[in-house]
Amino acid sequence: MAEKRILLIVGGGIAAYKSLELTRLLRKAGVAVRPILTKAGAEFVTPLSLSALAEDKVYSQLFSLTDEAEMGHIELSRSADLVVVAPATADLMAKAAQGLASDLASTTLLATDKAVLMAPAMNVRMWEHAATRRNLAILRADGVTFVGPDEGAMACGEYGPGRMAEPPAIFEAIMAMLGGTARPLAGKRALVTAGPTVEAIDPVRMLTNRSSGKQGYAIASSLAALGAEVTLVSGPTALPAPAGVKRVDVESARDMLAACEAALPADVAVCVAAVADWRPADASAGKIKKTGKAAEPIALVENPDILASLSKGARRPRLVIGFAAETNDLEAHAKAKLARKGCDWIVANDVSIAGTMGGDQNAVALVSADGIERWERMAKGEVARRLAERIAAQFA
Ligand code: CTP
Repeated sequence: MAEKRILLIVGGGIAAYKSLELTRLLRKAGVAVRPILTKAGAEFVTPLSLSALAEDKVYSQLFSLTDEAEMGHIELSRSADLVVVAPATADLMAKAAQGLASDLASTTLLATDKAVLMAPAMNVRMWEHAATRRNLAILRADGVTFVGPDEGAMACGEYGPGRMAEPPAIFEAIMAMLGGTARPLAGKRALVTAGPTVEAIDPVRMLTNRSSGKQGYAIASSLAALGAEVTLVSGPTALPAPAGVKRVDVESARDMLAACEAALPADVAVCVAAVADWRPADASAGKIKKTGKAAEPIALVENPDILASLSKGARRPRLVIGFAAETNDLEAHAKAKLARKGCDWIVANDVSIAGTMGGDQNAVALVSADGIERWERMAKGEVARRLAERIAAQFA
């Protein structure tokens, strides 16, 4: 990666602070970062922070004599292997879609002959506005690649798609586009389950759980970044499908099992989904009505165990990995689960730590027949990257 260069355009949005973290990740990976900070971007992050992290000068003026003397804007637009716009505001997207050249950022986008990756960030209504939809379609047709936006609570207090993708996800998309990541899993098929399952009680009620799907989606993304052909079988989540991953949406555990079986053969299966252990024995065809008397208890039956079925099935993937959410005796429970499920590794996570469920951090231990390896607490994206690397090493 040492010789790879990114031209990073930082637009004006509250998400601009995440571009500092993105810069840090890129530098850590040995990628050179040359920043362009728009006038609006400079309202959110300072040129000094960006310059210090990028270890390069920050460019911001189109008609700056010193900038032009050092490097003309045409040369600037071609000085990198990839142009990344993060945050890509509605304004920057509109300018790029229309081919405007009214400032350094838009001029660079018009003048570049390199691939462009955009990480949009804007208010949900702006993202959903017909004008932005049009601009998105134009930019896609022009060959621009997009990462995100994510769905979630926004700084403006609204909820929905529009949040900039997290720095590790943008980093991964960049690495995939630079082709810099070795692709040790090229030609390998991976199956990942993620999210909760939903078990119907009647047409309007259900049994489910609080799984966000974040860890499973991150793993699917990391495996794809290493070149694997990934099928992500997912229960309902608020997450967009990771780039380069085939997502199959399911609701119940039985649907999830059927979708997993349909995705075989696979070289590796990673079961991250929080599958409901039970489902109502008889989902009612009609809505269950109040009767004024005590409600009938809902009889539950056990769901199929997808991890165990894959581990013990005739078409067993060479490597089967399960997750175990534990609140106590992490190691003992994980070892017992390894034996019971018949899988090769268990990634045990300590959900007693506040903020793990639904949060962005995870403290895990990798348990196999060889023993237990504790990983320090890290971002879920980082857990995913490390796990994908371990999987690749297994196939080396
Ligand atoms: N799993 C599965 N199908 C199920 C249940 C679980 O594939 N019906 C998988 C999960 O995706 C995860 C692992 O099995 O990889 C978790 O096992 P499970 O026994 O459900 O874990 P816990 O709920 O933590 O178990 P326990 O209730 O025994 O603590």
